[in-house]
Amino acid sequence: MNYIAQTQSDFENLSQAAVNNPDAFWSRYAEENFNWHKKWSTVSNCDLTQGKISWFEGAQLNITENCLDRHAANQPNKTALIWEPNESKEPAIEYSYQELLDQVSKTANMLKEMGVQKGDRICMYLPMVPELAFSVLACARIGAIHSVVFAGFSAQSLADRINDASCKWVITADGGFRGNKITPLKKIADEALAQCDCVEKVLVVQRTQSDIEWNASRDIWWHDQFEKQTTDCPAEIMDAEDKLFILYTSGSTGKPKGMVHSSAGYMVYTTYSFLNVFQCRRDDVYWCTADIGWITGHSYILYGPLSAGATTLMFEGTPSYPDMGKFWEIVEKHKVNIFYTAPTAIRSLATCDLALVNQYDLSSLRVLGTVGEPINEEAWRWYDEHIGKGNCPIVDTWWQTETGGIMISNLAGVTPAIPTMATLPLPGVQLALMDTHNTEINEMEAEGALCIKAAWPGMARTIYGNHQRFVETYYSTYPGYYFTGDGARRDAQGNYRITGRMDDVVIVSGHNLGTAEIEDCIDELPQVIEAAVVGYPHAIKGNAICAYLCAEDLTEKEVKQFVSDRLGPISKPEQVVFVTALPKTRSGKIMRRILRKIAAGETDALGDISTLLNPDCVKDIIQIMA
Ligand code: WTA
Repeated sequence: MNYIAQTQSDFENLSQAAVNNPDAFWSRYAEENFNWHKKWSTVSNCDLTQGKISWFEGAQLNITENCLDRHAANQPNKTALIWEPNESKEPAIEYSYQELLDQVSKTANMLKEMGVQKGDRICMYLPMVPELAFSVLACARIGAIHSVVFAGFSAQSLADRINDASCKWVITADGGFRGNKITPLKKIADEALAQCDCVEKVLVVQRTQSDIEWNASRDIWWHDQFEKQTTDCPAEIMDAEDKLFILYTSGSTGKPKGMVHSSAGYMVYTTYSFLNVFQCRRDDVYWCTADIGWITGHSYILYGPLSAGATTLMFEGTPSYPDMGKFWEIVEKHKVNIFYTAPTAIRSLATCDLALVNQYDLSSLRVLGTVGEPINEEAWRWYDEHIGKGNCPIVDTWWQTETGGIMISNLAGVTPAIPTMATLPLPGVQLALMDTHNTEINEMEAEGALCIKAAWPGMARTIYGNHQRFVETYYSTYPGYYFTGDGARRDAQGNYRITGRMDDVVIVSGHNLGTAEIEDCIDELPQVIEAAVVGYPHAIKGNAICAYLCAEDLTEKEVKQFVSDRLGPISKPEQVVFVTALPKTRSGKIMRRILRKIAAGETDALGDISTLLNPDCVKDIIQIMA
């Protein structure tokens, strides 16, 4: 059996095979597609009621042998990684599989020389430079656990994450280029490290030549140590369930959760999902615009594509520098075939002059993807028409830091795309919708809490240092099921549409309203650039809806009328607030939590807003509403 579906009937057969005998399905896929030092004795050993998850027990492997060595042996000159710098006048760098293996081996040897051992935690606070990719893979090669912290986080957020995992080593850079700005990473790291007693050494990549403070007993230049290393670094042999990395994600409470992923299952699932969803071909250039500081970068810039032997591109800069045509310039320059980005990027690019798109040759593109939030129909249509030129399937991929890889998506060109729907679960993924009595809904057409009822290899294993929180957050609301925290609607054909976080459901006069649905509706107004809809307490209706929008030439009355016409009077927002910008996280997600608080008048309980991309807009919004 070929585990990568090429036709609709392959897809159906695979889905059936995975339901009939999940262990046989994953076992055969794992056996036929990866290099193992030792085979497993047990395929899966999971008890979801306890949040106990284990795959391929007894097996031994090293994920970097699968991502690097085997391709370096078979196709040493194939480009593994293309690095595109912030400034296009600086040359791009291409690393073949052999070259990437050599760089990773040298990095691994450097870390070993510093005293890093298997099981140690290493924090990376780096811009999107090749050294970030080398460091991540070097940790995996020697069995150290990487914890990448997105380079936009504040000193406090960095310190919290370093301390939570007791990282002994930090890898950072003098600075990072992003557009026309330099982020003073070393300075921020120094500030964080004043609070971190666990850190022994700091390895510093020189990127911006910025003036930095130097702590001679602690800081080490990367380039001083790197060049002298040899390229010979045998991979540490790891057990299947050894921890591969920790990655922090925010929860409903303040403290971020250090999600832990392990070696074998994560490798198997990211590779499988990458190939099925994107249908990557041998000579494709694949580009995921995420930052490696997020799960999307871990799974679909590095591990998935490299394990599959693909050519993966990483970009240091931003979509808006030197102008909003940057993404399309890169697509043309590297003849990108598969392009994977976030709806928020698409929406902002769609507001720009089309000349910025049309001056570039995008004919290399074959597959487009989105991730991270629901994509509204207008943005989907723009992406399809102006980027895909009507010729490229768009995959709307739903997944989470916790799931390790894509769980719901159409498969490019194999199963149909439906705008605004993530569509069907991947073969091997068993979904369930739960009703308000916490029982599974059997009807096909339904709406409820999205759960996953069978274990899959890529799932997170625990929250670092707090397994109890892991069980409480994900496995106790619906015993025996993994609860995603998202709501979803299923149509008569079994297609899923994510309706948003469950905490974004607002009950107005006894009716459930999906804020994402109202946003989607408002987004259809051509004058609207972006909208966020939240609920807030209302004396008579229980809750009411507040819509924040960035828009031009639109009145409150028109918006209310439009929603009322489209979705029914019950969905009509109580308040419509015109703002200049919406508060966003560094990864571009709208911070609805803050908007909810403002709507509720709780402006003195906003919490820490320093990690926002644009904290200043919060003040403006409060003023507008006063
Ligand atoms: C949301 C990102 C709708 C969802 C990979 C999920 C989506 C959260 C989609 C996880 C999508 C992600 N359609 N919503 N295609 N993809 N989400 O951990 O609410 O950063 O629970 O992982 O993003 O965000 P995370």
